[in-house]
Amino acid sequence: MMKLRYLGHSAFELKGGGAVILTDPFLSGGPESRLSAESFEEVDFIFVTHGHSDHIGDTEKIALRTGAIVVANFELCHYFGKKGLTCHPMHIGGSFEFPFGRVKMTPALHGSDIMEGDTIIPGGNPCGFLFDIGGVKVYHAGDTGLTMDMQLLAEEGVKAALLPIGGNFVMDVKDAARAVNFIRPEIAVPIHYDTFPVIKADPGEFARLVGSAAEVRIMKTGDEMELS
Ligand code: NI
Ligand code: MN
Repeated sequence: MMKLRYLGHSAFELKGGGAVILTDPFLSGGPESRLSAESFEEVDFIFVTHGHSDHIGDTEKIALRTGAIVVANFELCHYFGKKGLTCHPMHIGGSFEFPFGRVKMTPALHGSDIMEGDTIIPGGNPCGFLFDIGGVKVYHAGDTGLTMDMQLLAEEGVKAALLPIGGNFVMDVKDAARAVNFIRPEIAVPIHYDTFPVIKADPGEFARLVGSAAEVRIMKTGDEMELS
């Protein structure tokens, strides 16, 4: 059993396998009202899909306070490591058995460099994550365009796919619906839209395009879902 709580944009809290896990914890700095980084007192792992600020978000703040282990690509781990964070580096296609379950790092078509003031720091390759917690599989796509690689996920029996639909930087609703047909998850959750004007999208249109291919759950910030 796993509990999934949407924290807005691409951020989720996953509770399962005895662990509290955050993904892309962009909490402060977002336009909508969200939970504050300070409200997370117990976090075991933070998974970061790429180096853009709307995904790194409050990783440093939360990890330093809670001692959470940051899981990201090798280059991002080097960057976080220099800031004093404890990291577990992975790379595309690799998987690892964590205490709570198994996680595979999946490909994403996007960028990953980190902007710090006027400086651009190389951030390796962007990714997604396939979580397997007690046999329940959740795919977090990260930021990505549609890829043929997503077809490989159809063999996994994905329970819930968290897919960006906002367009411009990532898949739009049409491509995200095509991704659902590639991945064949039981549940599809639209993410990464409406946060900024340039990624405005209609999740209802996404649901219409997905049709009967999956159950579309449109989650609002703070919404929870139990998966088993
Ligand atoms: Ni991005
Ligand atoms: Mn993004």
